[in-house]
Amino acid sequence: MNKKLLITGGAGFIGSNFVHYILQNHPDYDIIVLDKLTYAGNLNNLKAVTDKIKFIRGDICNTKDVEMAMEGVDFVVSFAAETHVDRSISGAKEFVMTEVFGANTLLEVVNRFGTKKFVLVSTDEVYGEIEKGSFNETDPLHPRNPYAATKAGADLLALSFFETYGLPVMITRTTNNFGPYQHPEKFIPRALTSVMSGKPIQIYGDGKQIRDWIFVKDNCAAIDTVLQKGNVGEVYNICAKNEKTNIEIATKVLQLLGKPVDSLKFVPDRPGHDKRYSLDPSKIHALGWTCKETFDSGMKNTVDWYKENEWWWKPLIENMG
Ligand SMILES: NC(=O)c1ccc[n+]([C@@H]2O[C@H](COP(=O)([O-])OP(=O)(O)OC[C@H]3O[C@@H](n4cnc5c(N)ncnc54)[C@H](O)[C@@H]3O)[C@@H](O)[C@H]2O)c1
Repeated sequence: MNKKLLITGGAGFIGSNFVHYILQNHPDYDIIVLDKLTYAGNLNNLKAVTDKIKFIRGDICNTKDVEMAMEGVDFVVSFAAETHVDRSISGAKEFVMTEVFGANTLLEVVNRFGTKKFVLVSTDEVYGEIEKGSFNETDPLHPRNPYAATKAGADLLALSFFETYGLPVMITRTTNNFGPYQHPEKFIPRALTSVMSGKPIQIYGDGKQIRDWIFVKDNCAAIDTVLQKGNVGEVYNICAKNEKTNIEIATKVLQLLGKPVDSLKFVPDRPGHDKRYSLDPSKIHALGWTCKETFDSGMKNTVDWYKENEWWWKPLIENMG
């Protein structure tokens, strides 16, 4: 009998890539996607596979929606979240609702229904910034913006369900992803679509902030590795060790699109902008996962995808105004 996998937030960037990944790699899984379809959720991300999955439009904050989605489910992987740091700085209410209240609602229902494994997708931002070295999974959390703080809330709440009720929770904390289907409000697709629309790339502050970039399909494979081989109650850092400054990323985008590398527009820095994130991935490597893409091959793949799929991103840019 097929196994039933519930994917929340499966119409977003990483969630939809994960749906595609599971369909390609686990033909014995039936997939149910539960997604509220906020501005970040997009059914076009699942267009090629709509007949292969069950889609439920619903909210993880709503007990009834989660109960409907949980019917007969064996495994849960949860991506549903508000994800744009800038939006959380303008107002964090939606972030508190989905990340904290929503995570609690989801955990309560999953705990009541029972599950073999529950993977909550968290972020490197929960650790806060680090000047030198890398965080490992036992380091204390020190989130420094409202998005990161609410993600830390969800992350710790999920771990508390393991300790308190024995719910088989696992957490992945991942660095910045890039790849197909990422909303153009985020740095790499915003840079790509700006250049393709004849505009300069906008850079916050001095552009020397360092992020560690992972191609989304590698992250999907890592999350699947945790689902298949991870130990319950554990946290797994996921990263590719591609540390780059924002200026380096922008320069790469301009080079790949054949434009002058000085087409940059510097704007005032984001408040509380973390200087550097860095993770130690030894624990996920010990489960047998390593990255398949290099930074360059992942970027080439991403640039080609955005070049070939203007139909996908043009309407999103128009909606952003
Ligand atoms: N993108 C990254 O670089 C990155 C890095 C580390 C961790 N993460 C985490 O990975 C997950 C996915 O990130 P993403 O970039 O794909 O996000 P995204 O913004 O592209 O997608 C989020 C999805 O969640 C859905 N959603 C939002 N609120 C919901 C609710 N209340 N109920 C049901 N669905 C809801 C949205 O409709 C959307 O489809 C998030 O939890 C995020 O914190 C992302």
